[in-house]
Amino acid sequence: MTALETQGIAVTKIVIPAGEVNKNIESVQALWYGFLDASLERGSTVLALGGGVVGDLSGFAASTFMRGITWINVPTTLLAMVDASLGGKTGVDLPRGKNLVGAFYPPAFVLVDPNVLLTLPEVEIRTGMAEVIKHGIIGDPGLLEMCAGYRGEGELDKLITRAMAVKIRIIETDPYDKGERAALNLGHTVGHALELVSEYRLRHGEAVAIGMVVETRLAERLGLAEQGLSLHIASILAGINLPVDIPADLDRAAIRRAMGVDKKKSQGRICFSLPASLSRVLIGIDVPDDVLDAEI
Ligand code: GLY
Repeated sequence: MTALETQGIAVTKIVIPAGEVNKNIESVQALWYGFLDASLERGSTVLALGGGVVGDLSGFAASTFMRGITWINVPTTLLAMVDASLGGKTGVDLPRGKNLVGAFYPPAFVLVDPNVLLTLPEVEIRTGMAEVIKHGIIGDPGLLEMCAGYRGEGELDKLITRAMAVKIRIIETDPYDKGERAALNLGHTVGHALELVSEYRLRHGEAVAIGMVVETRLAERLGLAEQGLSLHIASILAGINLPVDIPADLDRAAIRRAMGVDKKKSQGRICFSLPASLSRVLIGIDVPDDVLDAEI
């Protein structure tokens, strides 16, 4: 803030509560009122400084305030750096599911400084690594190997750059999520349901880690993936102390119901993104109920 003010830029700070439970329309409304209190105009800029929730809320508030004002994203978590900040998805959750309301509204630019991660608790890095590993599976086997050997924060710069590169490649090809971008949903159909049913006790990265393993097992059962792929992925995730199994106390029927409101559906059926092998994700896969019954 001080740096901006010394450049003669008037800055007003608006603090919003952290956590996925606050990613709702009430928080966006609080931002809209905050923008009015700060006398923002159509030429003003919103700078989102925080994790994925702050980026999604601020971007959505900016997309709708006075029919759209400029915003800049400065992600401060690993998860937001490698995934949420890239590709212009903004929005809120509804009680029935995650990210059900939103807009594609890319920031003017994304500024990533890995040094800010040094101030975060270890759990933030560990859970953010789930999305780094996801990008390794989707499009960079070398990155996956680096994750397998990951031993600490010192190596994060390279991992972040390579993970961002995978996502940037995909969003440049399919910015509006009409096709190939669905590969980025790997682990998320099951993962989002786990977050919801656990009432966000499972963090996003933990839920996605479990989701990637379960969805790879589905692919193996369907004969779409090489046998052993789920074990390989699970061992890399477990090596970083990420969970790989659905917690026993989570209601299986509730998970299946929650998956049913995932927005990646076509003609009423859930569309899964399933890995066939490293660097090859099959999209739009309809998994028969008996195969789901066997894994969930
Ligand atoms: N996080 C998935 C996407 O941006 O499409």
